[in-house]
Amino acid sequence: MRVLGIETSCDETAVAIVEDGADGRRCLAHALSSQIIEHQPFGGVVPEIAARSHLNRLDKLVGQAMAEAGLRYEDLDGIAATAGPGLIGGVIVGVMTAKALSSVHRKPFIAVNHLEGHALTARFTNGVEYPFLLLLVSGGHCQVLEVRGVGQYRRLGTTLDDAAGECFDKAAKMLGLGFPGGPAVERAAENGQADRFSLPRPLKGRAGCDFSFSGLKTAVRHVAEALPPGSIQPQDANDIAAGLQKAIVAHIVDRCSNAFAMVSGERPTMFVVSGGVAANTALRQALSDLAADQDVAFVVPPVDLCTDNAVMIAWAGLERLALGLTDPLNFKPRPRWPLDAATV
Ligand code: KG4
Ligand code: ZN
Repeated sequence: MRVLGIETSCDETAVAIVEDGADGRRCLAHALSSQIIEHQPFGGVVPEIAARSHLNRLDKLVGQAMAEAGLRYEDLDGIAATAGPGLIGGVIVGVMTAKALSSVHRKPFIAVNHLEGHALTARFTNGVEYPFLLLLVSGGHCQVLEVRGVGQYRRLGTTLDDAAGECFDKAAKMLGLGFPGGPAVERAAENGQADRFSLPRPLKGRAGCDFSFSGLKTAVRHVAEALPPGSIQPQDANDIAAGLQKAIVAHIVDRCSNAFAMVSGERPTMFVVSGGVAANTALRQALSDLAADQDVAFVVPPVDLCTDNAVMIAWAGLERLALGLTDPLNFKPRPRWPLDAATV
């Protein structure tokens, strides 16, 4: 089975083709174009610029992916696209393109939830079996899910305010470290002293596995404002970055350690982490230690498949198609689309 997938929900335009066959799962093509440079002057993603940029790039990327895979449209079994949640202008561009391809080439259309894409990546990359415990930690989301199968999610906890990546990004902006903030904070933290400034540990000791990052963001602002007037010195920024990274990692580990006791079904044997923030080395190390304590295997997909990409959308589309889960051409793109409607 071969599926073409399209991702346009944020600031990456991407098209991939994946195959699941007798000799295993393979990515046949992945064409990805990041818009980081276009959004950099604004210190964050500007939805209108993102939508126009997806529109300008997507056709070409579809052509590139087909050429790279050396396929004709009749060789495909389905066309998938992120149909939400995300910046709606971009989502519409991806969905309309996928519907057009599906209609012209008479292939099933599969509307993929972007979060399901992140959730199922580890099945493509590491052959992870259901059920598993998933931490999804990105620029727009921070949640823990019990994953029992395609479309079978139970959300154990989520953020009460900002996502973890948002906290990295906003703090980086305040410290003048640039955009995107996560990698910038990680680099600055390498030369910083984490204990110079004391930052809070949100929800410490509280039951459950909800997250909260807005207090940390405010604390960073207070610490920065308390420094002598004038621009923040590089060493100050490094020390605050190190303190922030340490606090975020401690918070995520604390909340995830509660999640293991909250699983209602069969105890998962794997702990999977996905989303852009999973690129953070300190976080990966701490979560790997937590998994060892809990006696479960720890799985993180390769970094380029943790951040937004189209391979995960093609793969989630393929898993859905294999179960006969296709969608009509009047499917409406969704700016909000929780994975687990029951707990929202
Ligand atoms: O999954 P992703 O590419 O896009 C969303 O769906 O949000 O995640 C992007 C987020 C950004 O907030 C970025 O700052 C963060 O992931 N990020 C990191 C690192 N690399 C990317 N955060 C911390 N450390 C990193 N090394
Ligand atoms: Zn994402």
